[in-house]
Amino acid sequence: MKNLVDMLEQNRTLNNEDFYALLSCDDTEVTEYLKQRATSVRKEIYGTDVYIRGLIEFTNYCKNDCLYCGIRRSNKNAARYRLDDEQIYNCAETGYKLGFRTFVLQGGEDMYYTDSKIAHIVSTLKEAYPDCAVTLSIGEKSRESYKTYFNAGADRYLLRHETANNAHYAKLHPKELSLENRKRCLYDLKDIGYQVGCGFMVGSPFQTLQNITEDLHFIGELEPHMVGIGPFIPHKDTPFAGKAPGTLEMTVKLLSIIRLMLPYVLLPATTALGTIHPKGREMGIMAGANVVMPNLSPSDVRKKYLLYDNKICTGDEAAECIRCLQMRMESIGYHIVQSRGDSKKI
Ligand code: 5AD
Ligand code: FES
Repeated sequence: MKNLVDMLEQNRTLNNEDFYALLSCDDTEVTEYLKQRATSVRKEIYGTDVYIRGLIEFTNYCKNDCLYCGIRRSNKNAARYRLDDEQIYNCAETGYKLGFRTFVLQGGEDMYYTDSKIAHIVSTLKEAYPDCAVTLSIGEKSRESYKTYFNAGADRYLLRHETANNAHYAKLHPKELSLENRKRCLYDLKDIGYQVGCGFMVGSPFQTLQNITEDLHFIGELEPHMVGIGPFIPHKDTPFAGKAPGTLEMTVKLLSIIRLMLPYVLLPATTALGTIHPKGREMGIMAGANVVMPNLSPSDVRKKYLLYDNKICTGDEAAECIRCLQMRMESIGYHIVQSRGDSKKI
């Protein structure tokens, strides 16, 4: 079985059967070896550097109704909010002083923010902070819209594919949404010139190991610059309230597998991973992740951007979070660096 890990490292992929065998293997000797190889590859390329992204959750209005998500439009219990331009710039200013050189504007699919409003926010941030990268994470849009934001200066775009299997996709989403359009978005984004991130939830309802192998093959095909994966965590006001969460073990294993598939990839140890285990983010970093994304949103709105239950860091100021993360990373021998944190792949 250790052989499979070596094959994965050499060939950067495995066939279906071998991926399946590796995913279903719970022999600790094998999982430890996988982690060790992934860490070694990570250290060769990124050393012990950890990149930070300042996450600005600027709206929790959403026109979509994804069954897993706490800010789905049918959730009448969600207290909705929008940040105005001034509030967004204030978050960035605070973030810049704390050493952030990437800002991630994340929100629901909120039609209030027209393309020109988004473009204006992006270009204002790029003018004020020319040494920073701006990442958008605002869902499915037309190719034209993506071009507009890119021309305004957006550098990166995060859009998780959620699952690469059509039937599984249909179980997680209402019928207006399709995997086909999601993939179209990702390929358009890449083609336009963005650094692109896809990803999926680990242990989402109805997900099989076979589905995960399909996710891995899709990631191999797309060759994204970033991959966001974190455990599924049920939210009490969604149809998936009673479903089981994803596990720490599977998430950490997948981080290592993805590091071996795409050695240069930017791979966050997500807040969701930190939510299911108090040391989840540290374990993610020790398995091959190289990014953390602390929250820069104003404290009063943090408790409202709840995609899942028990989310961490919803009460803390940005400064506290960054100090906390610095200590956490140092405690495992890694170091937060002040840089845009671009992929080292040229
Ligand atoms: N648990 C974990 N992750 C979630 N997301 C949405 N809802 C949940 C949940 N209940 C993830 C999705 C989305 C990203 C912004 O957050 O993968 O793409
Ligand atoms: Fe937010 Fe620790 S990272 S409090």
